[in-house]
Amino acid sequence: MAFFQRRKTLNILFIGDIVGKRGRKATQIFLEQEMEKESIDFVIANGENATHGKGLNREHMLELLKSGVDVVTLGNHAFSKKEILHYIDLYDEILRPENLNAVFPGKGSRIYNIGEKSIRVTNLLGRAFMDGNAENPFDTMDRILNEEEKADIHIVDFHAEATGEKQSFAWNFDGKVTAILGTHTHVVTADERILPKGTAFQSDVGMVGPYFGILGASRKEVILKTRTGFPTTFELEEEGPVLFNGTLLQIDDATNQVQKIKRFAEIYEI
Ligand SMILES: [Fe+2]
Ligand SMILES: [Fe+2]
Repeated sequence: MAFFQRRKTLNILFIGDIVGKRGRKATQIFLEQEMEKESIDFVIANGENATHGKGLNREHMLELLKSGVDVVTLGNHAFSKKEILHYIDLYDEILRPENLNAVFPGKGSRIYNIGEKSIRVTNLLGRAFMDGNAENPFDTMDRILNEEEKADIHIVDFHAEATGEKQSFAWNFDGKVTAILGTHTHVVTADERILPKGTAFQSDVGMVGPYFGILGASRKEVILKTRTGFPTTFELEEEGPVLFNGTLLQIDDATNQVQKIKRFAEIYEI
């Protein structure tokens, strides 16, 4: 009977920073293979590196949506490809960090609907060891929670460098949102958990990109720069397989709380 077959969870997949062409391809392959198997209902992906490692052009944003991504979040590279200034306001599917200066177009927090559920997705930038002029993300988050419309589920992409800042943010907002997932470092952390007041947390979801690179970039160039300080422009690593990192949140239909958080690390020969 249909009644007994009805699923009791909403499954949201969050994909780490997608790096370049091969990262986009791995995203497409993962979603083709796992979407049904893992009963994924909604997909959020960080796309700040999707266009050749830095920024996101319109063509690649549309490619991600076609692969099955519902919401693309960004980070410190949000406006690296200038054309985004012209298209970001045309697509509700893209979020740039909310705590950027208001001079930037786009929005950093929106509500999406899937079936009867409303899902707010918020994108924020951290400040520790990060360049730029982001406003205090704690204050921005307070403002969203106090002033913006509430949703059944609220997922936060906290794009930041320091695990300490990410943990501080997560503990501060435990019980106030459904999940806080970190992005930006391109290195997955094994600390996924559900905090005492119910908020799911992981310091960093990782990346989808060249596994034999350094954070996705060419080993040769990064080593030269790191070892000698010689100025280089980073290209992406073309050798070796591609790593896919994503985290699945299994959300209880009745409580809207995460009951299970699960990490993926797949390797694709592309
Ligand atoms: Fe970043
Ligand atoms: Fe990144």
